[in-house]
Amino acid sequence: MMSDIDLQKLPRHIAVIMDGNGRWAQQHAMGRISGHKKGAEAVRTTVRACREIGIKVLTLYAFSTENWLRPEHEVNALMRLLEEYLHSELRELLETGIRLTTIGDTEALKEPIKSTLQETMAKTAHNRDMTLNLALSYGGRDEIIAAFKKMVLDVHAGKLSLHGISKDIFPDYLYTAGLPDPDLLIRTSGEYRISNFLLWQSAYTEFYFTDVLWPDFNRDELFKAIAEYQRRERRFGLTSDQIQKDQRA
Ligand code: IPE
Ligand code: IPE
Ligand code: MG
Repeated sequence: MMSDIDLQKLPRHIAVIMDGNGRWAQQHAMGRISGHKKGAEAVRTTVRACREIGIKVLTLYAFSTENWLRPEHEVNALMRLLEEYLHSELRELLETGIRLTTIGDTEALKEPIKSTLQETMAKTAHNRDMTLNLALSYGGRDEIIAAFKKMVLDVHAGKLSLHGISKDIFPDYLYTAGLPDPDLLIRTSGEYRISNFLLWQSAYTEFYFTDVLWPDFNRDELFKAIAEYQRRERRFGLTSDQIQKDQRA
């Protein structure tokens, strides 16, 4: 319930591995695509709930680089659903001050989704209340390699020195440049793995796993995850004493 969470201590950035659409469909004796459709509704609900309580960044893992290897009709259906989602949500994104961004190799996406994404990003670029960040054709390893290549180019161009390379500037070369690291990462469907998501960024992220399948995820499940996050002590390698002293100061 919403009353279980402290609105003063919200995670700034929540990332979600939305998994289990296929199994949900199977449980309901439906085809996988029906599971994805229902999953899109859970996306709407989750975006609204995050906006309502004041989450600043929500990153949703919608399509991985590995997902390209799924049957073609499933890939096409996922792209169609994304297209539908963007069209149906644009008004609400504008009305509620949500900026749309993407991470991933979006060059690999096809039309019409590529243009629709660009248009939606352009139209919502000035929004400041929340960032809805969609991971599309996203792979954490590819992201790191792409960042590395950009860095090498900058070194060759004399914009960056070898000494200048550090863990502090590396994030500027990632797809997520400018976004804070995720504080909380939620994975649904009872799988305990990262599946190539935000490998660099999740170094000190709190993980929350639930057996709930993505189409069944809702406000209460989100609030449960946030409440659990708020019970944890993030130590970042320090001792509990140090952290508590820091909080008192
Ligand atoms: C998540 O659900 C959606 C995407 C990966 C695009 P799945 O389609 O992976 O569902 P399961 O894991 O087969 O149940
Ligand atoms: C992770 O789910 C990717 C998305 C949710 C988009 P997968 O279903 O692709 O992950 P694996 O294959 O179970 O690791
Ligand atoms: Mg899956």
